This record gives sequence, C-alpha cells and structure tokens, in this order.
Amino acid sequence: MGLREEIEKRKTFAIVSHPDAGKTTLTEKLLLFGGAIQIAGAVKSNKIKRATTSDFMEIERQRGISVATSVMGFQYRGKQINILDTPGHADFAEDTFRTLTAVDSAIVVVDVAKGVETQTRKLVRVCRMRDTPLIFFVNKLDREGMDAFDIMDQIETELDVKLVPLSWPIGMGQRFKGVYNIYAGKLVLFRPHAKQTADDTIVINDLNSEELDTHIGADDAATLREELEMIREVYPPFDKADYLSGETCPIFFGSAINNFGVKEMLDCFVDIAPMPLARPTDVRIVAPDEPRFSGFIFKIHANMDPNHRDRIAFLRICSGHFRRNTNYFHVRQGKQLKFARPTAFMAAQKTVIEEAFPGDVIGLYDSGNFKIGDTLTEGEKLRFTGIPTFSPEQFRIVENADPMHYKKFYKGLDQLMDEGVAQMFIRKLDNKRIIGTVGALQFDVIQYRMEHEYGARVRYEPLRLYKAVWISGDEAHLKAFMERRKRDIAFDKKGQPVFLAETEWTLKTVRENNPDITFSFSSEY
Ligand code: G4P
Repeated sequence: MGLREEIEKRKTFAIVSHPDAGKTTLTEKLLLFGGAIQIAGAVKSNKIKRATTSDFMEIERQRGISVATSVMGFQYRGKQINILDTPGHADFAEDTFRTLTAVDSAIVVVDVAKGVETQTRKLVRVCRMRDTPLIFFVNKLDREGMDAFDIMDQIETELDVKLVPLSWPIGMGQRFKGVYNIYAGKLVLFRPHAKQTADDTIVINDLNSEELDTHIGADDAATLREELEMIREVYPPFDKADYLSGETCPIFFGSAINNFGVKEMLDCFVDIAPMPLARPTDVRIVAPDEPRFSGFIFKIHANMDPNHRDRIAFLRICSGHFRRNTNYFHVRQGKQLKFARPTAFMAAQKTVIEEAFPGDVIGLYDSGNFKIGDTLTEGEKLRFTGIPTFSPEQFRIVENADPMHYKKFYKGLDQLMDEGVAQMFIRKLDNKRIIGTVGALQFDVIQYRMEHEYGARVRYEPLRLYKAVWISGDEAHLKAFMERRKRDIAFDKKGQPVFLAETEWTLKTVRENNPDITFSFSSEY
C-alpha cells in the first residue's frame, strides 16, 4: 500500500468530556464495534476516581494503567481508527490539552442531565483554538435530562459552536424509544437491557407514512415529525466542508452504556471525519503525504516501575514513513537518534512496530532526550508549533531541602518540567523557583517523584497568586513595565517574561493601566 492510501485510511481523534459524562463507556463501545476488544469491561477505566490529594499514589498507579490505553487502534469499515485517550481528572487537564494537538478531530460527550460542565467548556475552547472538527454525543438518554432543543441551545450559547443535529431522540428516560438517524434516514428503536441489533434499525423512506406510528406510537410519531420539521427550519443542513473547517458540529443522541446510538455516530464519523491533516511549523506547513518523515512529541510518561527508569515519549507522525532502527534528526538537540523498540499501543497490548504512518501515534523509549514539543525529521530544521501551555492557577515556591544534593534537585525539576508535570518560573527579584500547576495534586506528585526517582528532597513555601500571565510588547514599553513591576515579574523555562498577578483585581487594573502591554493566558511549547 502506498503512502497516500495509508494516510487516507487513518482517522486519529480523541474523546473528551467532563468526568462522568461517559467517555470511558463510549470508548469501550467503539472498541467493541471495531473488534479490538471482545467483552465489555475490557478497557481499564482511565478515569481517576474521586481521589483526594493523599491518594496521589493511587492516582499515579492509575495513570500507569492509562499508558497502556493511551492509544487505542482498531479497524472499522476498512479504516484505521486511532483513539487517543485523555486523563479524566481535572488536575491533569494540561495533559489532555496537549493530546488534543495530536488529533485531527474530537468527539465531545455531554451528559443529558448535566449539560455543559466546566471541563467541557475548557476542552472545547482548546479544540476551537485550532478549529478541530468536533462531533457532539449527548449521552444517557435512558435517564431523564434536558429537552433536546434546550441542551442544543445551551451547547451553542456556552461553547460558541453551531450545531447540526444528525440524530434525534424520541422521548427520554422511561419513555425513551430510540433515535431517528437523520444522517442515514433510519429509525433506530431502543430496547432497554437488550443489545441493539440490526432488527432494531428500520429504514423509513417517508416520515409521514403510518409505519412510523406503528413503531413508536401515534403521539411520539407526531412529536417526532413536528420536531424534525422545526430542525429543518432552525438548523442548517449538514455540510461536510463546514464540519471539516470547524464551522459546524454534528450532534448525536444516545446511551453509551446501552450501546445505543453509538453505531450511528461511528458510521457517520467514519464517513466524514478528517484524515491526517497538514500541520504548521515555525518554517512552513507540512503535508502528510510528503515522503520525508516528520513528527512531534506531545506527551511524556515516566515509568512508575522503579526498575525501569526510562520514560515513554509519545510521537505523533505528521508526514512520511517512520521506520524502526532508522536514524532521525532531533531538531532541538541537533543530533541523530534511532529507535530499536518503537511501540504501538493497541487496546492494552503493546507491540514493537516496524513502521508507522501519518496519523499514527507511537511510543519511544527515552532516557531523557525529549521535551514536550520536540520535533523529529529526516534532517530538515523545523519545529511543529501550536502545543499550548496555559496560565497556571496554583503556586508554590520550591526549594531544595537537602543542601548536599543540589545537582539532583535541579536535574529532577528540569526533567519533570520537560515532561509537562507543571510549569516553573524564576522570579526576577530573588531568583526563587515558583511552580505553577492546574491542580493541587501535582505538588504531591512532584515531591514524591523528586524523592523516589531523583533522590532529591523538596520544600514548598506557600505563595498567594491568582495567575501567571505571559507579557509582551515593544521593547521600550516592556522594559519599563518590567522595571516598574519588578516584584511581580518572573521568567518561564524559555526565558519569556510573565506577570505574577496577586489577585484578579490586580490583573484587571494592571491591564487597564498598561494598554501597551499584551497579557496572554496561554503560551506555546
Ligand atoms: P467518564 O469516562 O466520562 O468519566 O465516564 P464513564 O464512562 O466512566 O461513565 C460515568 C458513569 O456513567 C458510569 O457509572 C457509567 O456506567 C455511567 N454511564 C455511562 N453511559 C451511560 C448511559 O448511557 N446511561 C446511564 N444511565 N449511565 C451511563 P458509575 O456508576 O460511575 O460507574 P460504573 O460502576 O457503572 O462503572
């Protein structure tokens, strides 16, 4: 098979949701359809169950499991489907944001009763920064929840997206009868506690025919006709180009746990989801069908097994043909590297692979060569861009608690920051190191890993900050601002200046009083 065919076969995407909306359940059902697993329950939940800070060891253990399920690949209708898993715990949101840079599209799961939630908002915002094509799946229709029109309104208003319904629910909860598959023009009947079979799918060519009444009853048939009419009036017809450009998002309804409405979405996804796309670099756009290999590291996972100190760096292939035991150019370090055991993760099975293609994600064993955002090529000096890092919200000053071991302290901190566990800033005033994180959990993770992996002891000092925000502007203004606010300036790992805002109010007034300075809530690796 040629490179072009390999590329056209692949669909690489992520399923994202607020915890508990049903991401794991949906993933599992998709794998069942693909034959990648045989029984329900085979996918270890990547969900980190409501753990408190003191449970972080358990969380790390669970994260260990999640490495095995980091990429789940399966074949469906002649396509190679790659699902990239994302951690469910909000404290690991940055991990998820980075994974979203390695996909070509995403499915967003929303709980019909809870609607749009905090993580849904954040995740969709990150997807929209890159115009990632999105499909929505409203889950748990077997329970009472919001009216279908209301939840669509909420999604459109709160997430600033335009929806196009491609399936439509008939009732919900106790009265849930099924969905009308608008995309394929089929009625799909719901039978609680029974697996959806081919018999449950009925093709209805004319919605006005009596046949509809026979299957779902006269009342529901009348409501369905009325609602479909309203949909035709209010929502635009489905247009694949609009979906691919991120302009509109198809929406499906169903119940993942009952494996209901899932196949309809999967079949549509396989038809419309993008194949591996061209990607921007600091020099030029790289097309997937360029013969020369290129790719970037978007995630690094440390090995929790103390006997194996190596890490796994996850590489998204962007162009060309990757081969095992072949020299590739590590652009940042300017050196050649080759990989003897590149690994594919297929639903909990790890296999060493000989080759891989654009859209694939492979694991590279790494002894400290990689940072998030690193690019590998066949020699060209370019760097894939667009891997975001966001203003952290929790801060502590970190200090070495063991004066005999400075080297270990710096090495450990550097490596953990390269992995993207947290962000570190150095304060201009006193050279103190400030760790910034999304969630409180990372402080414990860092302390534990510094001690057990690097033999370094850390001490934290509390620091009351609201946010660290990147600042830019012309040289004179920036310099003057940094001089004026000396106490509140620090530098990130790339040497970029950040403003340390103590309160929301400080940030607001400082922004108002300094119109020549740009304050950014995100930066790039
Ligand atoms: P997540 O990965 O998004 O965090 O969600 P997950 O799939 O783990 O689902 C969260 C809970 O919602 C699970 O229940 C799951 O069984 C349930 N669920 C998923 N899909 C549906 C659905 O279509 N209908 C209903 N009624 N429930 C659904 P749990 O009690 O937290 O866990 P478990 O013990 O069932 O695994």
